[in-house]
Amino acid sequence: MADFDLVLRGGTLVTASDTMTCDIGVVGERIAALGRGLGAGKREIDTAGAYVLPGGVDSHCHIEQRSSGGVMTADDFYSATVSAAFGGTTTVIPFAAQHRGQSLRQVVQDYHACAGPKAVIDYAFHLIVSDPSESVLGQELPALIRDGYSSFKVYMTYERLKLDDRQLLDVLSVARREGALVMVHAENHDVIAWMTERLLQGGHGLPQHHALSHPRAAEGEATHRAIRLAEFLDVPMLVVHVSAAEAMDAIRKAQTRGLKIYGETCPQYLFLTAADLDRDGLEGAKFCCSPPPRDTADQEAMWRGLNNGTFQVFSSDHAPYRFDESGKLPRGEKTTFKEMANGVPGLELRLPLLFSEGVRGGRLSLNEFVALASTNAAKLYGLYPRKGSLAVGADADLAIWDPEKTVEVSYDLLHDRAGYTPYEGRRITGWPVTVINRGRVVVEDGALKAERGSGAFLPCDPPESARPLGRPAPELDPAANGGTDLGWS
Ligand code: URP
Ligand code: ZN
Ligand code: ZN
Repeated sequence: MADFDLVLRGGTLVTASDTMTCDIGVVGERIAALGRGLGAGKREIDTAGAYVLPGGVDSHCHIEQRSSGGVMTADDFYSATVSAAFGGTTTVIPFAAQHRGQSLRQVVQDYHACAGPKAVIDYAFHLIVSDPSESVLGQELPALIRDGYSSFKVYMTYERLKLDDRQLLDVLSVARREGALVMVHAENHDVIAWMTERLLQGGHGLPQHHALSHPRAAEGEATHRAIRLAEFLDVPMLVVHVSAAEAMDAIRKAQTRGLKIYGETCPQYLFLTAADLDRDGLEGAKFCCSPPPRDTADQEAMWRGLNNGTFQVFSSDHAPYRFDESGKLPRGEKTTFKEMANGVPGLELRLPLLFSEGVRGGRLSLNEFVALASTNAAKLYGLYPRKGSLAVGADADLAIWDPEKTVEVSYDLLHDRAGYTPYEGRRITGWPVTVINRGRVVVEDGALKAERGSGAFLPCDPPESARPLGRPAPELDPAANGGTDLGWS
């Protein structure tokens, strides 16, 4: 009689802290044993010579989301999660995105209705808060945080999404009181609007001008400001999709001062530059995202930030739009950069790119790779140790990597519906060949094995970093204000 449903035998297990050769025994959905010479499994996979890693956690992706300009992403929850699985990811955390005037609770229900019947791997949701009305701040957000939506993104730019500083303080104080983590898209809107106006007035509407319209100064200033506001209220915050050295330095300095400021960067800031936007015709639109890719010095800074711990999270920011009138080019050849949906696809190649250039390229240890691929995001967003670990009792989310497999990237190999990849032609060494989510083999021998709708929703605990604090922010403490009580948060 078999002791386990599944045994992975003889692989090199790698976690964020350890590397060891041993077997993994799975019973049902969970890891039941780790050790050498484990008993028999109903099914056995020989993993000798391979790396066995926790399945990836991609904590920033836009799936079946309408942009603020009304354009729908190319992927739905089926194609996006299939694509993620083929890239070694077993958990995605996309957004339930509020547009102004919408009830946040209704938005969450709508995203569940989309994801439930389609997702093939597990998923949680961050919220996007674009309309912090009295009822959102007073009732909906606190209740949703308690229901397992314990992180939310806010924008400092995009006309229809941006919050002003006063609104940022409002949402930060709710996060502080309720124990949620705020993710901030930090770019100064007025700088971008001013640059955009001047560029368009001068007839400069090509994709390459998108990069000019989002200067480093806009990102740097907003990052400083967001950090200062978070410090003022003594609340943790994560700066998403950092592209430039100046913003990274602001995060690093804040961390050095002991603030709980976290950072994220993405493949497009390691592997693309603004020169990619400067291609023939409108081809550069395929690389338009915000903030834009910068230059090789900024790429080096991003690698440094991954290496020295400034960035805890490496996410795809998968925001796929087709290169046609339904997506990037709403006015065909006449489309200016201002009208292009922002974002690039990246769910499937996030980890192979990082493995190839990071681990094989000698920039990251295997353990650092696992931390960035999976463990840190699971910890920050309240999914650890169920996700992001190889431990007895954890979900059996496993990615078996062939460290020698070399692939020349071509869109035809991928499973998203963007219709192109920004990484076409790049050679990658190291590939996740078998992917397992909660004990189910999801990808094997280049084929999908999972059913539509077999992914599970994961409510998130309050992030460890953002546990509710039972005291006022220091600068709002009556003791610091001659007894003036400014409210609990
Ligand atoms: O350009 C990007 N990053 N698009 C997705 C939307 C966002 O701000 O994350
Ligand atoms: Zn953003
Ligand atoms: Zn995004």
